[in-house]
Amino acid sequence: MPKVALNFEDGVTRFVECGPNELLVDAAYRARLNIPMDCRDGVCGTCKSHCESGRYSMESYIEDALTEDEAAQGYVLTCQMRPESDCVVSVPATSKLCKSGPSSFGARLSEVRHLSDTTIGFTLELDEPDSLTFLPGQYMQVSVPETAHSRAYSFSSRVNGGRIDFLVRNIPGGLMSTYLSSRAAPGDRLMMHGPSGAFYLRDLHRPALFLAGGTGLAPFLAMLDHLKEKGRSAQPIHLLYGVTRDADMVEVGKLEEFAEAIPEFTFGVCVADAASSASRKGFVTDHFGPEDLHGGDSDVYLCGPPPMVEAVRKHFEIIGIKPASFHYEKFNASEAA
Ligand code: FES
Repeated sequence: MPKVALNFEDGVTRFVECGPNELLVDAAYRARLNIPMDCRDGVCGTCKSHCESGRYSMESYIEDALTEDEAAQGYVLTCQMRPESDCVVSVPATSKLCKSGPSSFGARLSEVRHLSDTTIGFTLELDEPDSLTFLPGQYMQVSVPETAHSRAYSFSSRVNGGRIDFLVRNIPGGLMSTYLSSRAAPGDRLMMHGPSGAFYLRDLHRPALFLAGGTGLAPFLAMLDHLKEKGRSAQPIHLLYGVTRDADMVEVGKLEEFAEAIPEFTFGVCVADAASSASRKGFVTDHFGPEDLHGGDSDVYLCGPPPMVEAVRKHFEIIGIKPASFHYEKFNASEAA
C-alpha cells in the first residue's frame, strides 16, 4: 500500500497509508489528520499542496482550483489525489493547524560508541520495532534521560531490526554529551518525538554531490544506508566529507562499505588542518569544481555548520555554476537543525 509522507510547514512529518485507489484526503482523515480542506470537490483550491516525489493520479477538478502549469510543476489537490506509489507531499499549513503534531516513540539505549574526542555514536532499540518511519536525512527530538530536555539529532542509519543509530557531536558540558559520556547505561529509557525536517533524499534524476561537515555526516549515513538496502542508486553520488582534524574523522569504514555495496557511490575526505596526513587538505570547497556539478545538471545536498553553507553558496558563484537543486541543513553545536 502506498505510504505518503505529509510534510507540514513547521517541519513535522506524518506518514499515512493509502488503501488501493484511496484518495489521500480519506487516508489522512482515517489517520485523524485535518489537512486543509473545504469543498472536497476539486473546485475551491483550498487543499492545494505540492507533491515532491512519487506517482499519483488526479480525479476531476477545475482550472480555477489547479492550473495546468501548477499541475505540471507537481502541485496537487489532496482531495482529488490518488497515490500510486510512496509519495512525499508538502502541506502549506503547520501540523498544529492540522490538529496533528510529532509522533512519540519509546526506546531503550542499546549501545554508546565513543568514535573520537569530538563524536559519539549511540543506538536505540525501539519499543515497537515497526512503528517508526522517516525520510532518510530527517531528524528526531531525543529526550536526555533524567532531565526535562531533548535535543534534535539526525538519524544516521535506517531502522534495522528495531534498532536505529545516531551520531552526535561531543560537546564538553553539553547535556546529551555529558549523559552519554558519564551516566548512560544499556537499557536506559529515552523518548523520541518526530520525525521532522525538510532535508531528506529526493528521487535522484541527476548526479548528486553530498557535502558533509563534521557530524553533518549523520544524515548522509542514513541516506546511504537506505540506498544500500535497495542495492543501487539511480544516479552517481559523490560524497565529500570535511573535518577539522584527522582525529575528527569517523565512520570511514562505513563509507567504504557503502562504496562496495552501491556501485554508483564514491567518496573523499578532506581535513582542514594543514598538519594533517590526509591527501586532501583544506575545505570541501577546495575539492569540488565544475566537473562535479555536471555543468549544473546535478543535485547538491549539504549538512554542516552555517559558515560552510555560505562558503558553498559563494563557491557556486565563483565557479559560475548553479546546481539544479541545492538542499541544505545548517546545524549548530548541539542541534541537528
Ligand atoms: Fe476544494 Fe480540494 S478542498 S479543491
